[in-house]
Amino acid sequence: MTRLDEIMKRTEQFRYDRFGMFIHWGIYSIPARGEWVRSRENITIEDYQKYFDEFNPTEYDPKQWAIIAKQAGMKYAVMTAKHHDGFCMFDSKLTDYKSTDTPIKKDLIREYADAFRAEGLKVGFYYSLLDWHHPDYPKYGDRCHPMREKEEFEDEKINFDNYVEYMHGQVKELLTNYGKIDIIWFDFSYEEMTGEKWQAEKLVKMVRELQPGIIIDNRLDGKNSLVEGNPTIYSGDFASPEQFIPAQGVTDKLGNPLPWEACVTMNDHWGYASQDNNFKDSKQIVRKLVECVSKGGNLLMNVGPDAKGRIPKPSVDILNEVGNWMHDNHRSIYGCSIAELTKPEWGYYTQNGNKLYLHLFENPMGPLAVQLPRKIKSVRFIADGSERVSRRPWFAGNIGEGHLFLEVGRLDVWPNNPIDTVFEVELEEK
Ligand code: GLC
Repeated sequence: MTRLDEIMKRTEQFRYDRFGMFIHWGIYSIPARGEWVRSRENITIEDYQKYFDEFNPTEYDPKQWAIIAKQAGMKYAVMTAKHHDGFCMFDSKLTDYKSTDTPIKKDLIREYADAFRAEGLKVGFYYSLLDWHHPDYPKYGDRCHPMREKEEFEDEKINFDNYVEYMHGQVKELLTNYGKIDIIWFDFSYEEMTGEKWQAEKLVKMVRELQPGIIIDNRLDGKNSLVEGNPTIYSGDFASPEQFIPAQGVTDKLGNPLPWEACVTMNDHWGYASQDNNFKDSKQIVRKLVECVSKGGNLLMNVGPDAKGRIPKPSVDILNEVGNWMHDNHRSIYGCSIAELTKPEWGYYTQNGNKLYLHLFENPMGPLAVQLPRKIKSVRFIADGSERVSRRPWFAGNIGEGHLFLEVGRLDVWPNNPIDTVFEVELEEK
C-alpha cells in the first residue's frame, strides 16, 4: 500500500461523516475578543493571569453541546485542548496552567470527550504547537508571540528541546488518558517552526502507536507535502483549508483527490467574541456544506462558547435550523462525494454509488431538465420519500431526448425547502 492508499483507508469514516463541530474554548472567552487576544494586544503573562484566576464556567454542560451537534447532523467534534495561549483545558501533570487549577477545578476535556462519545459522536482534540506561556518557547522576533517586540527577551536563553518534550508529553497524556480519540488536530507550522522542529516524525509515531485508528490534520508539515504529492510520515491525513472552500476540492499535484476539511467560523472569530454578530445563516451553512461534499470535502463548523460555558444562542439557533434540513436530507450528505456530472447552474450534485442527489437552490422555470449519465431506476423527493416521475413537456419535440424532466414546484412552498430541495435519482448500474 502506498502512503496515499493508507490515508484513504484511514479516513474512510471521516470522509463518510462530512460534517463536524469545531469548538474553540479557553480563558480567552473572558476578554471575549477572540483566541488571539494575547498576541494581538501584546498582553503579558501577568496581565493575562486575571482570566485564569476568574475562569469559572459553571454552566458548562457538554452533554447539551453534544446534543446540539448531533441534532445539527454533525458526526464528530474537535475541541481545543490547548490553544496558542498555552492554557490547558485538561488535567495535565506537566503544568499548573490548566483548568483544574482555576475556580472551575474541572478537567473540561474529559467531560467533553465522555459526553460526546456517549452521544455517538467521534471525538477530536485540537492541540496548539505554539505556546505563549511556556518559558522555552521563542519570544522576541517570533512571528506570533505576544512578546515578539519586547527587547527584554532579545537575549533570553531558552531550551526549545524542553518545550518539545513538554509538548510531546502533553500529546501523550491526551492520547492515553481519554479513551479512543478519533482526530488529533495540530495547529500550526510557520517559517522554520515546522516538521522536524516539532520532532514531528517521533511525535507521529507515538500518536499512531497510542491511537492506531486516529487521523491527523496536515499542519505539522508547513511544506504541506500531502498536496505536493510526496507525503512523509508527518504530512497528515487530510488537508485543512481555513476560512475558504477550495475552487475544485483538493488534489495532490499528481491529480489524486485528497481528503480535506474546510474549517470555518460561524461569525468572524474562533474564540468567543461578544461583539461579533456577523453570523452566517443556516441557508448559507447548508449550501456550503453541500458545496464541500460536492467537491469531496468535509465542513468543520466552529462554535466559540462563552465564559459561562454556553454555546452562544445565535449559534444554537442556526445549528438547530441546519439540523432541521439535515433531518430530511442527510442521505445527500453522509457517504456522498464528487458526482459523475459537472456542477449544474441551479445548485449542486452529490453522489453516493448509484444514488445521485440533485440539490436545487432556485426555482426552475417549468420542469427541471437534467441530462443524466445513464438510465434511471427511480426518482425520489428525499424530504418525504415521495416518487417523482419524469414528464416530458408535449412541446419538447425532439429536444432533450432521454433527459429527466422533473416537476419541482416552488421551492419556498412545503414540502420543498428554500434552503436546498433535494431529489434522489437512482441510476442503473454502470
Ligand atoms: C488558525 C489560528 C487559530 C485557529 C485555527 C483554526 O491557525 O491560529 O486561532 O485555531 O486557525 O483553524
